Amino acid sequence: MSLIQVDEVLCRKDGICIRVCPKQCLVPDAEGRPVADPESACIDCGHCEAVCPHGALRHTRLATDGFVPARIDAVAPEALAALMRSRRSVRAYKPDTLDRPVLETLLETARYAPTGVNAQQVCWNVLSGAQACRDLAGLVVDWMRANNVMPLYIELWDKGQEVVLRGAPHVAVAHTPKDALIGSVDCVIAATYMELAAASMGLGACWAGILMFAAKNHPPVAKALGIPEGNEVHAGLMLGRPQFRYTLAPPRKPLRVAWL
Ligand SMILES: Cc1cc2nc3c(=O)[nH]c(=O)nc-3n(C[C@H](O)[C@H](O)[C@H](O)COP(=O)(O)O)c2cc1C
Repeated sequence: MSLIQVDEVLCRKDGICIRVCPKQCLVPDAEGRPVADPESACIDCGHCEAVCPHGALRHTRLATDGFVPARIDAVAPEALAALMRSRRSVRAYKPDTLDRPVLETLLETARYAPTGVNAQQVCWNVLSGAQACRDLAGLVVDWMRANNVMPLYIELWDKGQEVVLRGAPHVAVAHTPKDALIGSVDCVIAATYMELAAASMGLGACWAGILMFAAKNHPPVAKALGIPEGNEVHAGLMLGRPQFRYTLAPPRKPLRVAWL
């Protein structure tokens, strides 16, 4: 089956699909309608179908019902900028867990993050329950102790204070196969999408950097997170309901930019 199907009546031969294809998979036929170059390496990004203003093109490898209306103007720019400035790393959580549909909404948003060559290899493992997260933090502390990493955190743990996962009732980690092309970047972008989505829903999130290092370097942590053999964790977030609301956004260092 051809990579694309074109409705001859609807197609206006405007060439938009040809211009947006990232891999030059489409070429005009004698009449100016797009046809797929059989030699091309389509990455299934779906842009050809998504961009056609006339609904004239079908990408045959992508499910029709997977295409949803694009709403790029759904959020005012100033609202998005305000959200991005106001998002904070939350380090004090209520112990109650989030409902599964709430977590699914976060994961669904992260699913739409860009990935290198549209590989879409990011997988998520979500740990739930304040006690389960605390047990995981304990495994991270074991690793820290064995490697003399962050002695302050070990000292606090020994005094009964858990600062690895900050008492969050959930941890979500993003992982890819180790041989993924740019899996680490894909995971970081996906987690960034999730963190912003959480902020937009009034939820708390915080990057779990120490957990990420431990998951890479201490097999018991990767095991407790259910990471399959051959995969590597590249991003991790604590998640839950924040105990406190921030009233201010703190300052940042001045912008460093070179205008060339
Ligand atoms: C890659 C990465 C790893 C981080 N790891 C941790 C962590 O393990 N624990 C923690 O409390 N905060 C962690 N943070 C949060 C940063 O400390 C935080 O982003 C920074 O202090 C700025 O605060 P803000 O996020 O509220 O703007 C991490 C942030 C990033 C981007």
